[in-house]
Amino acid sequence: MKRYCINLLPVMALLLLGLSCTSPEEIVPELDDPIEEDDNVEVAIPLKELFKDYFPIGAAVTPQQANLGTPHGQALREHFSSITAENVMKPDALQRVKGQYTWGNADQLVKFAKDNGMLVRGHCLTWHAQSPDWMFYDENGELLSKEVALAQLEEHITAVVSRYKGDVYAWDVVNEAMFDWDPEGVIEYREDSPWYQMIGETYIDSAFVYAHRADPDAKLFYNDYNSIFSWKRHKIYNMVKRLKDNGIPIHGIGLQGHWNVNTSESDIRTTLDLFRTLDVEIQITELDVPVYLSGDEPGAVEYNSTFSFRQKAAYSMIFQVLLDYSDLITNVTFWGIGDDHTWLDRPDRKAFPFLFDEDLKPKPVYFEVQKLVQNQ
Ligand code: G3I
Repeated sequence: MKRYCINLLPVMALLLLGLSCTSPEEIVPELDDPIEEDDNVEVAIPLKELFKDYFPIGAAVTPQQANLGTPHGQALREHFSSITAENVMKPDALQRVKGQYTWGNADQLVKFAKDNGMLVRGHCLTWHAQSPDWMFYDENGELLSKEVALAQLEEHITAVVSRYKGDVYAWDVVNEAMFDWDPEGVIEYREDSPWYQMIGETYIDSAFVYAHRADPDAKLFYNDYNSIFSWKRHKIYNMVKRLKDNGIPIHGIGLQGHWNVNTSESDIRTTLDLFRTLDVEIQITELDVPVYLSGDEPGAVEYNSTFSFRQKAAYSMIFQVLLDYSDLITNVTFWGIGDDHTWLDRPDRKAFPFLFDEDLKPKPVYFEVQKLVQNQ
């Protein structure tokens, strides 16, 4: 039997989300109510069909998933028109040992995409993380000179972008270069990055130039998280404006979209309005929306009605915004496929951040998003 009550945490979330709590649909189920089975009786329209008039819809994948012999491969082919390598195109995956490229996994993803008519976003060419030590340090553990560091960066970017020329249509050329938690907005760049320490901020400029030389047709992106917060969006704006003013070939900004169930709608809209003035494309590159209101909320390992309720509200808000800005947004990619595999999970706390459950079946929130798109 279904039990309903007014549960304080979700009500607070509702207030935060600016929703009123008046209609029967908005009564919040108790935290551990099971999901109603008949939520799933509708027929799911494949995501790529649903969004075909708006933007390609993508997923980050592992090589194991990009295989039609697995449920993940089948789900990818049915629902997604774009893929991103979750890890295997990062610097430490492609050139862990200097001069020895390991292309196998990345090649497999690209072949899977081509065989199944999908776009490929390349992630990522320049990052302070998941990069081999030789890119930063000499044999004595000292930071490399600017000249050596730039020569190695040019070699890496040229090799990688050239190999996938014509196959990877968009690259995250530089990932997460701006300083994160700084509400005063004083520190612009992530100064703990070896790239910044060796070269200063112009490593960003150089990376874009190298990538453009290797594939003049590829769309080149700066990619970051927390980009919708006021203190960070302005740093990204200033940096991209500087690049554009200097004639550096940058075509877009990737908003990673590691959002949550109380992400602010006005933060997203304000950011999109600001970035629009830069005359660049926007891609949502790593979308996931975990079910918790905060890091302190006790974790759960079963999905429940409260989580579903929160995610329906959050994903409906997010996709309404993305549809409203679809003239600006040229790709929306989830950072995974289904709730069985996500970087957000901990043993005692599952994040359930996607539209598909752990068995890759559409969740109730999927049908909520479907309804939203159909009602445009
Ligand atoms: O490759 C090693 C493997 O050799 C080893 O046996 C294994 C043991 O744990 O670890 C493997 O490396 C892991 C790697 O993923 C590949 O599976 C790392 O421990 C693990 O930390 C790494 O996590 C990735 C993380 O980036 C690293 O920063 C996540 O899968 C990936 O989802 C995440 O993706 C990032 C984006 O690139 C940038 N934006 C944020 C996003 C989430 O953190």
